[in-house]
Amino acid sequence: MQFASEIKSKLPTAGTTIFSIMSALAAKHNALNLAQGFPNFPVSEKLISLVNAQMKAGANQYAPMQGVQLLRERIAEKMHNRYNISYHSETEITITAGGTQAIFTAIQAVIRDGDEVIIFDPAYDSYAPAVTLAGGVTIHYDLMAPDYKIDWQAVKKLITQRTRLIIINTPHNPSGTILTVDDLQQLEALISHSNILVLSDEVYEHIIFDGHMHQSVCAFPALAERSFVVYSFGKTYHATGWKLGYVLAPEALTTEFRRIHQFNVFSVNTPMQYALADYMQDAGNYELLPPFYQEKRDKFVSFLQGSRFKIMPCSGSYFQLLDYSNITDEKDTEYAKQLTIEKGIASIPVSVFYQRKIDNKVLRFCFAKDDETLQRAAEKLLSV
Ligand SMILES: Cc1ncc(COP(=O)(O)O)c(C=O)c1O
Repeated sequence: MQFASEIKSKLPTAGTTIFSIMSALAAKHNALNLAQGFPNFPVSEKLISLVNAQMKAGANQYAPMQGVQLLRERIAEKMHNRYNISYHSETEITITAGGTQAIFTAIQAVIRDGDEVIIFDPAYDSYAPAVTLAGGVTIHYDLMAPDYKIDWQAVKKLITQRTRLIIINTPHNPSGTILTVDDLQQLEALISHSNILVLSDEVYEHIIFDGHMHQSVCAFPALAERSFVVYSFGKTYHATGWKLGYVLAPEALTTEFRRIHQFNVFSVNTPMQYALADYMQDAGNYELLPPFYQEKRDKFVSFLQGSRFKIMPCSGSYFQLLDYSNITDEKDTEYAKQLTIEKGIASIPVSVFYQRKIDNKVLRFCFAKDDETLQRAAEKLLSV
C-alpha cells in the first residue's frame, strides 16, 4: 500500500467509467438500465450448442495466436461475398478479444511518442486512453447535434506533419449516424497523398436501417491499404460478454498488429472461435440483423409518441438519442442521474463522450432490449 501514492498514473484523469456509474445507480434505484450497450435477449440456441459441442470435443486449449484458421477463412469468405473484397486469411485477418482489444492493439502498433491522432467526438471511450498510453496526442473534432455530420474541410485544418492516424466509426456510437460514400471519398482524397493511417471501427456493421448499406473503408482501395478495420462478434450475435472480435488490415499492418497482440493476449477463446466458424457457414445469420433491430428502433420510437423528448434520427447502431432541451436546462450528467433516481430509467449523457464535455442536452438509450422492456422504458419517459 505504501507504494501506491508513488505510482504516477498513466491515465490520471480516468475515473470509473460512466457505464459503471449509471449501471450501479440503476441497480441501486431498481431502474431500467438502457444505459450500457448490451442486448437483453438470448444468444441463438444453435450457436450455444455449437460452443458446447466444441468444448465437449476438447477444443479447450490455446488457439493459434492469430486465431483459428477456419474462422479466419469464414471471415475472408464473408468479406468476399458481402463486399467483394479480398482479405487473406493467413496474413490479413486476426481474431481478437472483442473490438476493444483490436482497437487498443492497433493503436499500440502504430502510434509513437508525439504522434497525433484525430478522433471524432462524441467517441467510444476506449480510443483516447489507448492513444495516450501509446504516447500519442489526441486531436478532437467535435461533431454536433442534431446531425453529427463531419465537415471534411474542417478536418483538413486539423492535419499536421505529426498526424499519424484518423479514427472513424460507422455506424456511430453514440449518435446513430452512418458515414456515406461521399464521406469516405472525402477522407480518401484528404489522406491519399500522406502517410496517415485509418482505424475504422465498424462493430455495428450489421445494425443499419432504412435500406442503407454499410460503407466500409474496405471498399475504398486507397483507404483499405492504410486501414485497420475492426469488427465485433459480440454486437453481431448478441454475445457482448464473449468478447470476441477481429481486425482486418493489409499484411504489413497485420504483422505489426500481431507483434503486439502476441504479448497482449496471445490468443483468444478457442471453443467459441470454432463454434462461430461453424455458425458463419449459414450466411443468413447476419442478414437478419437490420430488420430485427430496425423493428426495435421503430417500436421504441412509436412507444415514445407524445413524449416531451425530441426523438433524434438513428440510421444505425442500437442507440437512440433523445433531446430533452424542451424539458429542462439541467446538465445532461445531472439529468441522466435524476431520471434514474426519480423516474427509474437509466441512460448515458452524451457529454461524457466528448473530451470537451459538450452538453447538447442529449441522452443515449440502448434499444437492444425485449419489447416489454422498451415499452416500460417508454412509459417512464412519457411520465416526464
Ligand atoms: C463504437 C464501439 N466500438 C467498439 C466497441 C467494443 O466492442 P467489443 O464489445 O467487441 O469490445 C463498442 C462496444 O460498445 C462500441 O460501441
